[in-house]
Amino acid sequence: MIVTIDGPAGAGKSSAARALAQLLNFEFLDTGSMYRAVALAALRAGVDPRDEPALSVLVAGLRLELPSGGQVLLDGEDATSAIRTREVTAATGAVADSPSVRGRLANMQRTIAEGRNVVCEGRDQGTIVFPDAGCKFFLFADPNERARRRQREMAARGESVAWETILRDQRVRDERDAARDLAPMKPAEDALLLDSTGLSPEEVVEAMAARVRQRMGGSS
Ligand code: DC
Repeated sequence: MIVTIDGPAGAGKSSAARALAQLLNFEFLDTGSMYRAVALAALRAGVDPRDEPALSVLVAGLRLELPSGGQVLLDGEDATSAIRTREVTAATGAVADSPSVRGRLANMQRTIAEGRNVVCEGRDQGTIVFPDAGCKFFLFADPNERARRRQREMAARGESVAWETILRDQRVRDERDAARDLAPMKPAEDALLLDSTGLSPEEVVEAMAARVRQRMGGSS
């Protein structure tokens, strides 16, 4: 069974997907980390993230491995932390617009999920990559609260960034993700819309688990 969780940055998708996967004994796939890894590879290779032909060559030759839920290996090297910097985050938006990158990563995501029980998290999981997923969520939250959560996450990693800066970056990213021609961020028609504003992570996961169990039991 595939469970998809899509939605904007900072809505709590990653922690919800991870906790839900653990609760259900499913695997967890963070697809944003794959786009980030391609952006990191482009930056390292000096490839302009808006240069589609160059990106297409780069992504075709890339060795990307996700040995466990959160870990990312890029050409054999552990890139789990390196993909979370602000520089990589900024380059990822352009990389995610690339048709060749989206095509290759969507294929990889389907291959990874083949025959498994997986919670997949991203922007296009319920709409494009897994349109037949057994259970779909679109998780969102008030933008101010999302920016505050991001700021806390960054502070935990030792990065101190002004809330206003995070809010501005977040708005740019949201607009870009939603306006993308290919696979724009939007709820699948059959997704359950969940607003995580004011909810604890446990409450979000509880609401999701209840829905998944209902779906697994065969009722709608
Ligand atoms: O979820 P995240 O912040 O790690 O995502 C990083 C970027 O990748 C973000 O700009 C949106 C993009 N992305 C995407 O286009 N499709 C996905 N399935 C996942 C992420």
